[in-house]
Amino acid sequence: MNVLLSGDFGADERARWQRALAAVIPEARWLDEAGARTQPDVVQAAVVANPPPGSLQGLPRLRLIQSLWAGVDRLLADTTLPAGVPVARMVDPAMNAAMGETALWAVLSLHRGFFEYAQRQREARWQVHAQRRADEVRVLVLGQGQMGRAAARCIAQQGYAVTSWRRDGTPLPPLLGRAQIAINLLPLTPDTRGLLDAAFFAALPPGASVVNLARGAHVVDADLLAALASGHLHHAVLDVFHTEPLPPEHPFWRHPGVTVLPHAAALTDPRSAATVAAANLRAALAGQPVAHLVSRSVGY
Ligand code: GLV
Repeated sequence: MNVLLSGDFGADERARWQRALAAVIPEARWLDEAGARTQPDVVQAAVVANPPPGSLQGLPRLRLIQSLWAGVDRLLADTTLPAGVPVARMVDPAMNAAMGETALWAVLSLHRGFFEYAQRQREARWQVHAQRRADEVRVLVLGQGQMGRAAARCIAQQGYAVTSWRRDGTPLPPLLGRAQIAINLLPLTPDTRGLLDAAFFAALPPGASVVNLARGAHVVDADLLAALASGHLHHAVLDVFHTEPLPPEHPFWRHPGVTVLPHAAALTDPRSAATVAAANLRAALAGQPVAHLVSRSVGY
């Protein structure tokens, strides 16, 4: 089996993936982008993590594009992606678990005011605030995919009042009106781009907080900053941004009402993800059904 491994990896990261994949697919020969360009007709499958645009075209025997990322918005934005080749996104149980942990950390921190206590420590200020119970905190999770479900499960297990929403389900504004914390775990598609805008924030009750663990382009940054500045929103926890790394001059970095993570809410874990990729590569080459196929028209 000849497989192209392509992505925006650093050298260490590529070596880590290569080791993890070779351990579970010992029969594979791995090519990088340059190798695939010199021998395009041997490549049977591609394992990719934000591959350079154009790197998957002109491979006549390609049977599967397996993403190492859960979100395939950047991959699908490559207009040279070969039309007839199936694309599978990564569904990694370890990644789902990590997303549940991050969502729970954000909810706990917002509920108990731990972000404020961290701020007060920087000011050497000893001040206790009121303590609510978890079941008094209403959390809305946007997205009912792998990540959304994992997050909702983790939070509900701690006693929070959790509601989930999917784009083709019930109307969103009434649910927003009751949410004290809204967590975004939607896929990025033309329908969800910019969903977290001024109207979205206005529909939340005063004092609500927002957690974005999906994609930066879901949020209209200027509208979020305005909602924080007016005091309507209490806090935002942001893991993802329009430009990554977040530019040093971006106001989110130093905003007291914003907690920034470096797109680290849930990393793909090579140990478990390699096994998932291996099963799909073998299935594709044997003509068997492949798991977690992406619908290109739907966008995830
Ligand atoms: C991370 O954001 C991913 O899509 O895997």
